[in-house]
Amino acid sequence: MRLPANSNNLKQCQQLLEAGEIVAVPSETVYGLAGNALDEAAVRRIFSVKGRPLIDPLICHFASMEAIRKVVSVPTEMELLAEAFWPGALTIVTHKQNKIPDIVTAGLPSAAVRMPSQPTFRSLLQSLDFPLAAPSANPFGYVSPTSANHVEQTLGNKVPAILDDGHCQIGIESTILDLREPSQPVILRYGPIQPEEIQSILKTTIKDAVHTPSVRAQNPHYNQVAPGRLSQHYSPNTEVELIQNGSTSNLPVHTDIAIVINKRLNSSATVPNLYWLSEDGNLPTIAHNLFETLQKLDQLGYAKMIVEKCPDQGLGRAINDRLERAAYKRNSAYSR
Ligand code: TXA
Ligand code: MG
Repeated sequence: MRLPANSNNLKQCQQLLEAGEIVAVPSETVYGLAGNALDEAAVRRIFSVKGRPLIDPLICHFASMEAIRKVVSVPTEMELLAEAFWPGALTIVTHKQNKIPDIVTAGLPSAAVRMPSQPTFRSLLQSLDFPLAAPSANPFGYVSPTSANHVEQTLGNKVPAILDDGHCQIGIESTILDLREPSQPVILRYGPIQPEEIQSILKTTIKDAVHTPSVRAQNPHYNQVAPGRLSQHYSPNTEVELIQNGSTSNLPVHTDIAIVINKRLNSSATVPNLYWLSEDGNLPTIAHNLFETLQKLDQLGYAKMIVEKCPDQGLGRAINDRLERAAYKRNSAYSR
């Protein structure tokens, strides 16, 4: 059932969550599939509805630092980052205490925590006396949802309530930072908060597990620690092929192929099946529209989508990361 965000419906979602049910909730990044993070049965239901393997740990969402301190360790570095970026789209991996059940963290001794900024999600968290575990509210491996409509289309018959607060403001998932070794922070997933911004707060070099083979090699649980890193993820059913940023002069003309570019071309009207993610190449706008466009085109029956990459810096790097995973060919060892 889709429930527009208002105080009555917030109350209803609060009661469902207190009764151990799961609820799809809006966040500033993507919609989440939320349940009581301290209730093993509720968390198990999240995995089962999503079809998510139990080795892929969940992010826990909190209303306050006070609530966070009750269940994980908070090093000084984390305090500094919290002051700079929370509430917001940064997830921090840190050592956990026993109150968080193992199922949430896939047996890891660490937990991923975040304080979201989306006002409805914050109100819901404030009304509860437990944190909410929530992965993105999509079937495992599919494109993340940025509206209640997406959630309804893919999981609508499996969740008792979808709290609808319109389109997610950012549109791609949070940045994930590993702070298990607080003096050696590692980026596990690119997102809305850039490594350079984190670096300027911590005044230390941030390693990058995304592209640094040595960091990956050191970590035998690399895929488990950052399963968002599985090569195929965020994939529409339609084949996706990427083209380099700016290579939009000779676009193929074919009724069966959708073409997705970053910004509107002067000649846009003359190319069939052409879609643009922004008027002017603005990266936040592209991120905001990306998943919605992929999901919409996936339903139109095209044989293929050709998608232009972004400049590989800042938010563009996070967008390209999602695009590369969407385009990854389906011979991956890790099937969906
Ligand atoms: O923006 C977001 O982060 C959204 C909203 C709902 O908060 N959530 C989200 O969750 O993207 P999900 O499940 O799609 O991605 C969670 C990822 C895991 O795949 C893994 O990479 C990382 O978070 N993660 C979770 N717990 C972890 C842990 N204990 N250690 C390391 N990484 C962890
Ligand atoms: Mg996800």
